[in-house]
Amino acid sequence: MGKRLPLGTAIGAALLALTACGGGSGGTPTVAPPGNAAKLSLAAQVGQKAFFDKNLSGGKNMACSGCHDPQYAYGPPNSLSVQLGSDPAQSGARAVPSLRYRESTPAYDDHAANPDGVTLASAGGGFMWDGRAASMAEQVALPLLNPLEMNNASKADVVQAVQNGSYADLFEQAFGADVFADTDTAFADLGTAIQAFETEDLSFHPYSSKYDLNIYNKIGGTLTAAEMRGLVVFHSSAVGNCSACHYAGVNFAGNQGLMTDFTYQALGAPRNDKSIPGNPDPIPANDDPAYYDMGLCGPYRSDHTPAELGTPDPYCGQFKVPVLRNVATRGAFFHNGVFHSLVQVLHFYNTRDTHPEYWYPASGGSGTAQDNPSWALQPTYVPGATVARFNDLPADEQGSVDEEVPLGTGEGGDNTLGGGTQARAAGSAPAMTEQQMSDLICFLNTLSDGYQVPETAPTSGTCVN
Ligand code: HEC
Ligand code: HEC
Repeated sequence: MGKRLPLGTAIGAALLALTACGGGSGGTPTVAPPGNAAKLSLAAQVGQKAFFDKNLSGGKNMACSGCHDPQYAYGPPNSLSVQLGSDPAQSGARAVPSLRYRESTPAYDDHAANPDGVTLASAGGGFMWDGRAASMAEQVALPLLNPLEMNNASKADVVQAVQNGSYADLFEQAFGADVFADTDTAFADLGTAIQAFETEDLSFHPYSSKYDLNIYNKIGGTLTAAEMRGLVVFHSSAVGNCSACHYAGVNFAGNQGLMTDFTYQALGAPRNDKSIPGNPDPIPANDDPAYYDMGLCGPYRSDHTPAELGTPDPYCGQFKVPVLRNVATRGAFFHNGVFHSLVQVLHFYNTRDTHPEYWYPASGGSGTAQDNPSWALQPTYVPGATVARFNDLPADEQGSVDEEVPLGTGEGGDNTLGGGTQARAAGSAPAMTEQQMSDLICFLNTLSDGYQVPETAPTSGTCVN
């Protein structure tokens, strides 16, 4: 549902991003290991203990850090599409996001202003892929009480675990000697504590990527030719158009280069189920053909659920535009983790419309099956077969799928600011070349924290020349 300004001055914008002074927002760009307690408020010290505390789960076997591992930018430590729960017979229904650079996410609003200052207000903000938690403090209740995740039976059980734990005294120091007297208050304070840790600890926003060294103009942060070309593709409205949604400028909180405008879009990701041959980990919930994860219109939020089944609703299928920092360190991508490499993600953007047979199951046709490229989700295609596009949305809800560049042509629609409703014709030319996608991946790699300037700069390699 894009209403976006095509960045005609894309290269200008890119250069602006390179020269702008963003030093104020991120603090010192160094990675602080969890443990810089001296600098944390009492509440954040409690939050830090709680974040790593396995006793806060029903099975006493899973902490927040089990899914949000600090060694993996507070994202998942493996490439599973979705993670196992505290009860290992259960697994989640969505991919685990990184928790870095979340602190400036505003609360969800159907009509959120866009940080780029030109795009019309639209659904934006909020935590989780569907924005249903208004703050990080509120969010904490969701994994703790979710039977598929930390699987506690009640708030009282969680509070009891804190009270029995090694940091009960610290909890009282932070929130008052009588904090354990009231379960609801203590549970809410635990949320406040974890939010304080996620906000205050530098390890959640180190700003120590090569990209940061480049914008802050530090020695050694110079992007290579390939990375520069990738940056230009990222910003070019007719080619990658990535920054139309993965906004690279300064946001309302003064944070720069998070690569999200916090809006919601329906990209029509393939259903992560057994219709993908050899799928290593289909989402169990998808075994039920009547189950659809439609983001803003449910199942986890109910304010945009279509009144009747079969009524088109523009909110259906929309998920939050994710922060792209540290994305190159992930092993599963998109809300349902259906993609397992950046190569796959970029080819999906490029060929979702032009070669849907690479991504969605097909039936019928005749003749010998042809091989699809190695990165495709569907290994083969029978000529003339009918492709079930957008198969993770009920037929009536597929109209909300976005047709902005690079997915669609960017043409059509009822707005004057870009966006688009027109698909690229099957078999037509995609928006990006192989070289441009390769360069883009080099650029995305510059967004990983912990960049070390090499002693001698490499002179050859895919991401150099
Ligand atoms: C079993 C894995 C698992 C555990 C354990 C877990 N999470 Fe998550 N976390 C997820 C998943 C999956 C999502 C996305 C859920 C959704 O969109 O519905 C998520 C989302 C989040 C988000 C929102 C991020 C964003 O970009 O909107 C925050 C914040 C978060 N988790 C914090 C925590 C905290 C704090 C704990 C411990 C109390 C925790 N998580 C425990 C799997 C987990
Ligand atoms: C129309 C808005 C839009 C455009 C344009 C766009 N993206 Fe996205 N991007 C999204 C949304 C929304 C998601 C999440 C989709 C989902 O989970 O179903 C996403 C997800 C991703 C992810 C997966 C991140 C993760 O943590 O799983 C990557 C990587 C990505 N985009 C890169 C790019 C690149 C590179 C470009 C340019 C070629 C681009 N995007 C263009 C909206 C957009």
